[in-house]
Amino acid sequence: MTGSTQAELESKLITIASGKGGVGKTWVSVTLAQALSHLGRKVLLFDGDLGLANVDIQLGITPEYDISDVITGACNISSVIIPYEEAGAEGNGCLDVIAGQSGSGALGMLKREALVAVRTSLTELAAQYDHVLMDLAAGVDVSVTTLSTHRGRIYVVMTGDPTSLTDAYAFIKLAVMRNPNADVRIIVNNVHGKRDGEKAFEAIKKAAQGFLKFTPRLAGIIKTDKRVVDSIRSQMPILTRHPQADAASAVREIARQIPVENKVLAD
Ligand SMILES: Nc1ncnc2c1ncn2[C@@H]1O[C@H](COP(=O)(O)OP(=O)(O)O)[C@@H](O)[C@H]1O
Ligand SMILES: [Mg+2]
Repeated sequence: MTGSTQAELESKLITIASGKGGVGKTWVSVTLAQALSHLGRKVLLFDGDLGLANVDIQLGITPEYDISDVITGACNISSVIIPYEEAGAEGNGCLDVIAGQSGSGALGMLKREALVAVRTSLTELAAQYDHVLMDLAAGVDVSVTTLSTHRGRIYVVMTGDPTSLTDAYAFIKLAVMRNPNADVRIIVNNVHGKRDGEKAFEAIKKAAQGFLKFTPRLAGIIKTDKRVVDSIRSQMPILTRHPQADAASAVREIARQIPVENKVLAD
């Protein structure tokens, strides 16, 4: 363990939220986590979509244990960490995963205290990592608000769709009410061109500035790319299956913008 303060550990947490479902949150989380590991970072990816977990599916892994085993008290959190092995991985980073419970929905009902305990455990684990990424559920329920309350970055994924804009706004509003200095950054995903992405960003920025007196930043624009769909279907991350895809490059660029503080050295 390092002698990091609580604030330093919390600043390593990164949540990926959206408001609306189906906008590409899980795909962005998996790809960003892998891109950071390729930069030589030590990364833990947590599937925080507790009701409908699917990080494991997109990575093509079959976890023996998941976060539900921690919540029931059967396992301690360190023992459900799965190292993601990657043939020909670049750099000397690592990608570890804590899976959610696919297909059950049972964990969607967790009470706030249990969720705070999960967040506290993840913050403690951050001592061993450069970044702890959390893929969150859609909506703004207690799991989303609890897991995204921290000092780290919050990426809000949205598309050009107007309902995605209103749902992203609802998420940002709650985040800013809890913390007026929240580090909220927008990723516009699945748009035809850069111009469409900029338009969507301008719309959310205008709404946030007008009603919340808050200015979110633009983290990146990711275009619609059929290689995203192909990678998800083949249960292989895009940086492995189609590393040259434009969508892969766009996420690598977002990863490069994430600084590393107090780098954790390999064991
Ligand atoms: N950049 C993109 N290009 C093409 N399709 C995309 C892109 N991003 C997401 N998708 C599509 O959106 C679907 C939902 O993605 P997913 O990561 O499961 O979203 P969420 O976690 O927000 O529900 C994917 O299965 C894929 O078909
Ligand atoms: Mg998802």
